[in-house]
Amino acid sequence: MDYPISKIEAKIANALQKLGYEEEVVIIPSNRPELGDYQYNGIMPIAKKNGLNPLELAQKLVDLIKNEPEFKNLNIAGPGFINISFSDSFLLDFMNKSLEDITLNYKQNFNKTIFLDYGGPNVAKVLHVGHLRSANIGEALKRICLATGNKTISDVHLGDWGRPMGMVILEIKTRYPDLAYFQENYQGEPVNFNLTNEDLLELYPIATTKAKENPEIMEEARLINYKLQNKEPGYYALWQKIVEVSIKEVKRLYKILNVSFDLWEGESDNFQYMEEMFEYLYSKDIIKESEGAKVIPVKEENDNKEMPPLILIKSNGAVSYEATDLAAIWERTHKFNPDEIWYLTDKRQELHFTQVFRAAQKSNMVNPDLKLVFNGFGTMNGPDGKPFKTRDGGVMPLKELLARVTKECEKRLMPSITENRENIAETIAVAAIKYADLLPFRTTDYNFDIEKFTDLNGKTGTYLLYSTIRMKSLLNKANTSVSKIKVISTPIERNIILCMLDLKRIIKRSYENYSLNEICEYLYKITNLYNNFYAENKILTEENTDKKMSWLTLTKIIYDNNCYLLNILGINIPEKM
Ligand code: ARG
Repeated sequence: MDYPISKIEAKIANALQKLGYEEEVVIIPSNRPELGDYQYNGIMPIAKKNGLNPLELAQKLVDLIKNEPEFKNLNIAGPGFINISFSDSFLLDFMNKSLEDITLNYKQNFNKTIFLDYGGPNVAKVLHVGHLRSANIGEALKRICLATGNKTISDVHLGDWGRPMGMVILEIKTRYPDLAYFQENYQGEPVNFNLTNEDLLELYPIATTKAKENPEIMEEARLINYKLQNKEPGYYALWQKIVEVSIKEVKRLYKILNVSFDLWEGESDNFQYMEEMFEYLYSKDIIKESEGAKVIPVKEENDNKEMPPLILIKSNGAVSYEATDLAAIWERTHKFNPDEIWYLTDKRQELHFTQVFRAAQKSNMVNPDLKLVFNGFGTMNGPDGKPFKTRDGGVMPLKELLARVTKECEKRLMPSITENRENIAETIAVAAIKYADLLPFRTTDYNFDIEKFTDLNGKTGTYLLYSTIRMKSLLNKANTSVSKIKVISTPIERNIILCMLDLKRIIKRSYENYSLNEICEYLYKITNLYNNFYAENKILTEENTDKKMSWLTLTKIIYDNNCYLLNILGINIPEKM
């Protein structure tokens, strides 16, 4: 089904063609609503290009289309802006089509295959608020990609490889030297070893500190890591166990957050392509030796920031994070041949990705059309404006954050809700956290503020849930099936409809900016408009049946649309709250 605004744009383009001008036409919501609903600002550039008087050209265009049924009024303002007011029949037709198929407001013609790398949790380490942002923004972007009609492949990209794994294994070996994993004759048989995620979180900092402080321990960890990478049975089996235990907890938390992945690959999987990739890079003669390290120079002439060479292998022989990401690109392009690969990490990793993308392109290991996109994000800060910490100064574990917000939300639940309070509070907490996290532009830092995020009357996830549930409850009380909007009786209904009409543009902008902020603002705006409408009209007791049916239908469309948008943000709606 065609999007009505596109039809209007086509109509204007068609009229311009009749006047002799081949132009792409875009109309946008008016910034002076008293003059019209939408405006077309394209007349001035066309007139300039062709040496015409813009007002005359505007008048000719208006004369050609003013009697079309979509328009209530067309007027020319200033140097040649055309203000467009839509007819009621046009608006009603649009809404009734939206009732049939809400997706008409979302689909675009991108048709890309997009590979998304987000989440990025590290095995044996705590999942903290930085990982929350990656998972949250990445998941919502994936859902926008899907809603707009792209194909997606999502990968959690576990940090499951590298020297810290050697350190953790060494610490376990020191504590439990008798474990079967560490015996000469171990061949991979199952081992009865009870290891929990809590154990790992306790072990990790101890293991890494010990290694950093003691060169002998570091050397031993390096050796273990080397043997692990060569799949020595004992170390490999223990590593698999560590990964399994970690992933279980990560999956549990992601499930609560509504985050899911097609692939659960990690750096260890990319590592399997390392040899193949190195062979290729050597064949292209692109690897250079520098102070004992193997590097790829990536500096370009116009760089105004420092651009060090990408280090593939450090002088101590360790394979770098950069090499792993390059191998990940190698694997992904060979396996999936995507049009684009999007990365979601803290913006402080920008240099890393610039180097990796350049190395991939310079070496020609990727198709020149492949679009590599780094989407950095800002940090969630504590009240002091610094990255959010726990009371003892550590990074804030996601689990703790979730528990704190859940507790706050439970306090605000209606007392009449007696069953399932904890679960409902958790669903609301997730909405509060996610919405607050997606509301600022992606790269902006923001402060965690539990009172503000859970406020029922603010620009919050809780307000949106509350309002959306109320729409549903109104529809339930009315208990009739809705069919059509027949009349627009108040100015505010018109504004709600115009707001709906603008959705597709907002979706496109969010997709193009890789940011959810405009969708969050939009949801708040339309919900607010609806709530004002709701406060002004007694919908259930309205006696004029056309009016009543129209209002209920409007409610149903806004309700469906809110559900759809909340779903894009990865937010679930509880039955009540
Ligand atoms: N594990 C990394 C971290 O915690 C994030 C991984 C991001 N993705 C990537 N392809 N490097 O910082």
